[in-house]
Amino acid sequence: MGWYEDRVFPHLLDWATRPLNRQRRELLASAHGTVLELGVGTGANFPFYSEQAEAIHGIEPCGALLEHARESAYDSPNPARFDLRQAGAEALPYDDDTFDCVVACLVFCTIPEPDMAAREVRRVLKPGGELLVLEHVQHERPWPERLQRWLEPVWKPLACGCHLHRDTGALFRQAGFDTSGLETWQHPDLPAFAGFLLSGRALA
Ligand SMILES: C[S@@+](CC[C@H](N)C(=O)[O-])C[C@H]1O[C@@H](n2cnc3c(N)ncnc32)[C@H](O)[C@@H]1O
Repeated sequence: MGWYEDRVFPHLLDWATRPLNRQRRELLASAHGTVLELGVGTGANFPFYSEQAEAIHGIEPCGALLEHARESAYDSPNPARFDLRQAGAEALPYDDDTFDCVVACLVFCTIPEPDMAAREVRRVLKPGGELLVLEHVQHERPWPERLQRWLEPVWKPLACGCHLHRDTGALFRQAGFDTSGLETWQHPDLPAFAGFLLSGRALA
């Protein structure tokens, strides 16, 4: 990783996603039991886990972000429940049927092989386990979707590999999830190209 990814991007990420703090809190309120969070980034979600989340495992491939995440876990009220590892979601270092919940928050936009990651999430979730989702996705209307395609070549290097117009809901369906608990909507405080969200819970 270079200077931008190590030194600038973590702060940019926290600042740019601050309007989503309410949605983070709502999403994580229902995380319970043994939880896995994919691509934890700086650990921005950690303050929002309730005591229902008994053990929180997290993976993050980027070493610099993982360092921030470790600090965030350490600063949380219950650091002992966190176990963070450097790994990618395409090959999760966990046994089948391990987790009650998996958290996918602003991460399927960036994972290089999202189909593989979705299959891995199903593998490590217990039968009937929950995938808690907050993702920005391909816009449903034609002109913002065209804007997403147009901006992506500039956006992707600035946002460390983030794609603007992935159809993440379709990807979860193809991996075998029941996605009837997911909905799409436009966040009022974010621009259409990055603020069209997929949120809720999908069942394994
Ligand atoms: C937009 S950031 C979001 C970080 C965090 N989830 C949050 O909500 O603030 C995307 C994250 O995906 C991570 N990522 C990239 N490739 C990944 C992979 N193969 N598996 C898991 N996470 C990955 C990035 O390192 C980064 O932390």
